[in-house]
Amino acid sequence: MNRVEKARIRDVDQMHKLINYYADKGEMLARSLSEIYENVRDYFVVRQGERVIACAALHVSWLDLAEIKSLAVAEDSRKQGIGAQLVEVCLKEAKELGIATVFCLTYNPAFFERFGFSQVDKMELPRKVWTECYRCPKFPNCDEVALVYQLEGVRI
Ligand SMILES: CC(C)(COP(=O)(O)OP(=O)(O)OC[C@H]1O[C@@H](n2cnc3c(N)ncnc32)[C@H](O)[C@@H]1OP(=O)(O)O)[C@@H](O)C(=O)NCCC(=O)NCCS
Repeated sequence: MNRVEKARIRDVDQMHKLINYYADKGEMLARSLSEIYENVRDYFVVRQGERVIACAALHVSWLDLAEIKSLAVAEDSRKQGIGAQLVEVCLKEAKELGIATVFCLTYNPAFFERFGFSQVDKMELPRKVWTECYRCPKFPNCDEVALVYQLEGVRI
């Protein structure tokens, strides 16, 4: 079992490379270095020695809503359950924070459906979540799928 840990500042450069490797292939949204530095407290990583082999972020959007962002696992570390571990850690943190709903926007809905996420119409999400869409090369023709996960037992 790999250890999921909070990201450190020195991980940012590797996280940036990992995320943008998949962004260049059109599989996820690109992130700038400054954006990752500014939001570094949102990120979890999995390390192999000094190497960052995976990352994901939980970003709080509102009273009752958080987003799982920038989930990426290095090609040579995929299919070992690391992506699943990162999703579980993000959901755990959302629950600890008392946030009722976690959403994600992805080209890979099947991966998230395994955890109990269900697809929703993107327009059902509050407008606030679209703040970064204007930077997406595909804007306004978004073909990502929105999914939500309701955390049981969370009262707001
Ligand atoms: C999507 C992504 C994060 C998944 O990461 P991962 O670490 O490979 O995920 P997991 O290992 O938890 O699950 C992937 C598959 O491996 C399988 N798996 C998990 N552990 C396994 C093991 N020990 N042996 C064999 N297969 C295993 C899972 O059942 C799953 O199977 P499926 O593809 O048939 O559903 C990764 O492929 C990635 O970074 N993709 C590019 C970016 C992206 O799409 N990000 C997500 C949304 S923005």
